[in-house]
Amino acid sequence: MKNTVETIVNAKGKEKLTFLTAYDYSTAKLMDEAKINGLLIGDSLGMVVMGYENTLKVTVDDIIYHTKAVVRGAKNSHITGDMPFMSYQISPEDALANAGRIIKEGGAHSVKLEGGEEVAETVGKIVKAGIPVMGHIGLTPQSVNALGGYKVQGKSVDGAKKLIKDAMALEQAGAFSVVLECVPYHLAKIITEKLTVPTIGIGAGSYVDGQILVYQDMLGLYNKMTPKFVKTYADLGSQMVSAFENYIEEVKKGIFPSEKHSFTIEQTVLDALKEINEPEESF
Ligand code: KIV
Repeated sequence: MKNTVETIVNAKGKEKLTFLTAYDYSTAKLMDEAKINGLLIGDSLGMVVMGYENTLKVTVDDIIYHTKAVVRGAKNSHITGDMPFMSYQISPEDALANAGRIIKEGGAHSVKLEGGEEVAETVGKIVKAGIPVMGHIGLTPQSVNALGGYKVQGKSVDGAKKLIKDAMALEQAGAFSVVLECVPYHLAKIITEKLTVPTIGIGAGSYVDGQILVYQDMLGLYNKMTPKFVKTYADLGSQMVSAFENYIEEVKKGIFPSEKHSFTIEQTVLDALKEINEPEESF
């Protein structure tokens, strides 16, 4: 079944939604085969794919490049392109132009941007242009410098009240879902109950409408930092290292490639080649 904004919104209260990040064709295809509801081309690609310290250097072009690959691999998943740092903060007009590029050039079905009340006008403008928007509040990694690091948000009365207001402002502006990142689960539950659109948690406990994880985290492929909320479903990182070691050893010892992995040629062709290879008679 094709996942759309409508199926995602209608799932609230009926079934849990599943999202993962994706950045390339092959991985997106596998996730799609596993029947994931939605794929996010997150600006986390700056860290897990490009090796930056944080997400701030990611550009709209980076997101478009990776979105194109994911779109080719995924047939039924809803695809969301992240709006990178400074692609929506300058003005709502600028934000709309960039959101339009992610949809038009990248082929995403929706965009995601970080922030609450302060981006509500921008969200409204993008939604009015016919582009579905996923909100993102709590720990918003693009504000890492303002937040003073990657910390749980909404732990104080004021902080919690602000997140509730932010979530409601996003819903009112027309967001079709809201990501809650690193939020205490009791607060995530309150927000989830207040909204009519689904909440998608990452480090927000189980009382949300869906979950999202960065796929390198859940497969043990990125070990620079492993947040408490990550569950490693498979340790592919160490399996990959041992496969690479095995390959290197076999090539060095002449074990690989064996005849099984090599191509053959007819003996008659070889015989003919022998004649060509024979040194010409010298006079
Ligand atoms: O960039 C990203 O991958 C994200 C998710 C963590 C929600 O924003």
